[in-house]
Amino acid sequence: MVDFHTHILPGIDDGSQDVGMSLEMLAAEKDQRVDKIIATPHFYAKQDSIQKFLDRRQESYEKLMRSYSRETEQIPILLGAEVYYFEGMGNASMIPKLCIEGTQTLLLEMPFRQWTSSMYEDVKKLVQTQHLTVILAHLERFQPFQRDLDNWNRILKLGVLVQMNAGVFLNWKKRRQAVKLLKNVDTILMGSDCHNMDTRKPNLAAGREVIASKAGSEYITKSDELAEEVLNER
Ligand SMILES: [Fe+2]
Repeated sequence: MVDFHTHILPGIDDGSQDVGMSLEMLAAEKDQRVDKIIATPHFYAKQDSIQKFLDRRQESYEKLMRSYSRETEQIPILLGAEVYYFEGMGNASMIPKLCIEGTQTLLLEMPFRQWTSSMYEDVKKLVQTQHLTVILAHLERFQPFQRDLDNWNRILKLGVLVQMNAGVFLNWKKRRQAVKLLKNVDTILMGSDCHNMDTRKPNLAAGREVIASKAGSEYITKSDELAEEVLNER
């Protein structure tokens, strides 16, 4: 079971505040039998340079590993990023550096507003010109902003992969819509998008249970297979 979306690295974004919190989050992931974690700290091109971000990420990872490597059973952590959309990113040659370690796969956070044709063009370039596999982070969170579904549909038809947050399946107000969305896409990659141990904690196992009950256990199997496929590109 792979957690594709986590803010588990300490002190780098609005996720884990320190090593202690990260270790607690990792213990919670282990209890839920997560066997691989993608660390995806936020990257905002407007506020950051890629190299500075990569250095900070490495530092944070090493700081965590100084403690975590003492554990007898560790969950492998792969480094990635949750890259917020920016105009022109389709042409930005540095983007592959933000892909999940050892892959050409990017976790992309789209804007929380109506999607436009220039967003479509950028995603298209990432896929077709830069030949990246694009995962749309927590797709369910953007749906309420789409009055016009043209660009939503066009982007989804680019062969992008979809990640959904476990938490949406645990929220009874949002669950129905999320299940509908889930059934509309071929399969999803699952992520907890965990930030801490209280309001946004690791919750992948509980989310999967709901998915299994609503969409069938085959859906989970398919999702796990997709996760392996994405990472085996390594
Ligand atoms: Fe996130």
